[in-house]
Amino acid sequence: MSTNIYKTPVKGYLVTNSYLINSKFSIIHQWFMESAKKYAIDLKGFGNSQLPIYLPGDREDSREGKGREVDFVLFWDKDIRLAKFLEDSGYTLYNSSRAIALSDDKSLTHLALSKAGIPMPKTYIAPMTFDTIGYANLDFLEEVEALIGYPCVVKECFGSFGQQVYLARSQAELMAITLKIGSKPMLFQEFIESSMGRDVRLQVVGEEVIASMYRYSDNGDFRANITAGGKMKPYEPTKEQIDLALLCCKTLGLDFAGVDILFGRDGEPLVCEVNSNAHFKNIYDCTGVNAADVILEYILGKVKGAK
Ligand SMILES: Nc1ncnc2c1ncn2[C@@H]1O[C@H](COP(=O)(O)OP(=O)(O)O)[C@@H](O)[C@H]1O
Ligand SMILES: [Mg+2]
Repeated sequence: MSTNIYKTPVKGYLVTNSYLINSKFSIIHQWFMESAKKYAIDLKGFGNSQLPIYLPGDREDSREGKGREVDFVLFWDKDIRLAKFLEDSGYTLYNSSRAIALSDDKSLTHLALSKAGIPMPKTYIAPMTFDTIGYANLDFLEEVEALIGYPCVVKECFGSFGQQVYLARSQAELMAITLKIGSKPMLFQEFIESSMGRDVRLQVVGEEVIASMYRYSDNGDFRANITAGGKMKPYEPTKEQIDLALLCCKTLGLDFAGVDILFGRDGEPLVCEVNSNAHFKNIYDCTGVNAADVILEYILGKVKGAK
């Protein structure tokens, strides 16, 4: 493993969310700090609430060049307003605000990937409504039924760990799930039967797939997420899966990501979703690859290129 060979110490900020305080998240932050030590990177952690967005800047001119305080910001949060503010103030972010925004919202991911011709399950994005109004009628579900049929996967556009993903097996279930989600953005998707309870997670950093695992459920759940009770095995991805995962990251502008891929009817890969801040403890437990090290090594390379 290479160490930091630069004369001036490389400095960075790690930005995380101030309100997501549990061991699942803190272990990832801790691993980044430990990796930074290994690479002699001076990495300082901030919660997003410690970096207030204040506009117009009271010290507008002192914001000029503020980004030069550090060589990079590892933005491990979804606060895209803050991410954009930091970029506008001159900081270099990994991942960028645009890439995080595109992958955080499953409907935006779908739009961007479809445009690039990337195969995904057939998807219908719900018309937007407002919190204070909700849906006056659910007429659009007739179209969902005609285009997608049953079973139908329903996903909230913002969600993780399989917790906001549901399966409707009938019209009654489809209506009940839609009503339960309420006014939150959601989409409806063809259920890929051949991938029932199984998928692959590919961890990408830069131009490389650094680790991958096969996730499968043996409890009858259609979701393969480990948090939903799925199990994992190291997995050798096919060239097709690798190329697809890399193309997803390139299309969305991601420096690193966890890409979930489903198995189509003939085994062909279909992209399920892309995670800009993929939790990598499970893939470490499964494969021994520490993505925190590879991500920081990748950022060091970028800093070297820019210096
Ligand atoms: N269209 C689909 N067909 C079959 N299984 C799916 C489909 N979409 C999602 N799944 C299953 O549900 C899991 C969670 O969905 P995903 O979109 O990855 O949401 P999350 O962000 O919560 O992980 C996937 O890992 C996969 O096992
Ligand atoms: Mg997923």
